[in-house]
Amino acid sequence: MRISVIGCGYLGAVHASCLAKMGHEVIGIDVDERKIAELSAGIAPFFEPGLPELLSEAIASGRLRFSTDMADAQGCTVHFVCVGTPQRKGEYAADLSYVNAAFAGLAEFLASGDIAVCKSTVPVGTAARISAELAVSAPGAALAWNPEFLREGHAVQDTIAPDRLVYGVPAGEAGQRAAAQLDEVYRAPLAAGTPRMIMDYATAELVKAAANSFLATKISFINAMAEVCEAAGADVTVLADAIGMDERIGRKFLNAGLGFGGGCLPKDIRAFMARAGELGADQALTFLKEVDSINMRRRTKVVELVKSACAALDPQSSGSLIGKRVTVLGAAFKPYSDDVRDSPALNVAAQLQLQGATVTVTDPEALENAAERFPTLTFEPDLDEALARAHVVVLLTEWPQYRALDPVSLGEKVNAKYLVDGRNILDAAAWRAAGWTYRGMGRP
Ligand code: UDX
Repeated sequence: MRISVIGCGYLGAVHASCLAKMGHEVIGIDVDERKIAELSAGIAPFFEPGLPELLSEAIASGRLRFSTDMADAQGCTVHFVCVGTPQRKGEYAADLSYVNAAFAGLAEFLASGDIAVCKSTVPVGTAARISAELAVSAPGAALAWNPEFLREGHAVQDTIAPDRLVYGVPAGEAGQRAAAQLDEVYRAPLAAGTPRMIMDYATAELVKAAANSFLATKISFINAMAEVCEAAGADVTVLADAIGMDERIGRKFLNAGLGFGGGCLPKDIRAFMARAGELGADQALTFLKEVDSINMRRRTKVVELVKSACAALDPQSSGSLIGKRVTVLGAAFKPYSDDVRDSPALNVAAQLQLQGATVTVTDPEALENAAERFPTLTFEPDLDEALARAHVVVLLTEWPQYRALDPVSLGEKVNAKYLVDGRNILDAAAWRAAGWTYRGMGRP
């Protein structure tokens, strides 16, 4: 099939490359000229495992091209819209300007029988509105809503072998035709046994909002338990293992620590609350406000742990951070990504700096993006250099190289052996045996 993908960010670039791998002829379109130049040269504009190989292979096969010109979508029969829906400044609601602009630009190139398929996360009701607009601007074309569930860092695998495919389609024959076209697009994952569900637009939009809200709630639930464990002297990691063995609960997404960040979960739960408010259903989602608050409190908790480390190191200072060297391990919002959007690690680093600490941040992939967003922080790509002479080491993103740190040799480089493990990934006993004061999250 000939397919266009509008928007070549974390979602669109991976989607376009995977569609080409599935055998389709794909054109990726984006307004960002630099991004398109890089992608055309086979260079991934962000860090995503497996994407560079996939991209070069697809470009070499001649099945994947990129362009800044929307007119190049003409001649394709399926058009995916994969643009961002960030949080509006100073509000909870989502900013739909990129989605609106993408459909407005695409409409004039849609032929009768084409389908436009949106993958972006939007407030429920958006699809019905866009469908009505397309009925005027592109009669004969149909709209489908096909939410994306990929995780950054696993995006290629999640696209090629998703847990499920969700199609939101209009009622009647137009909907059946759209579903059949999507089945053709996803022939490979469907043949491999991927389940797919067909539903109305509103349900498809809500599936995505509900899935992300559930995941955020699961993380905040275990972080709430971490708060109680801290008060009671219990260990949340053991608690998570024990409750996670109940199949109804499951162990996944029960890692207590610094909490969730990134370009999706935080803004999606806020946009969901805003939309529910517009619909008069705000009471149904007031718990998400608490999910958000628990999540933000974890960041403050890490700052408090660093302060208590400084107070222990220098009892006269009453926890002041002035003159203390703090090394932050991790800038990305999660490992295997260079994405720093709403990164809890950078938020904590900035808070520590504001309170007077001399902060050095290191990360294997995300420093360039981090420096762009937080120009006042100090960044050091070399791990040994970043750790040298630290008074407190704070682990905030669980990159494998930080798991592998040796407490004995590291102890010789730092000024004081004080470690805050914001992701509960290190072996507390081994670090303590090497003379470190180890503080985890929700652990005694
Ligand atoms: C998320 C959803 O998982 C995905 O389905 C959706 O399409 C987009 O949003 P992503 O933002 O890439 O994906 O990352 P995810 O792996 O979900 O992690 C989100 C955040 O939660 C990260 O900051 C991570 O560190 C944190 N997290 C995750 C925890 O704090 N504890 C956990 O147990 C799991």
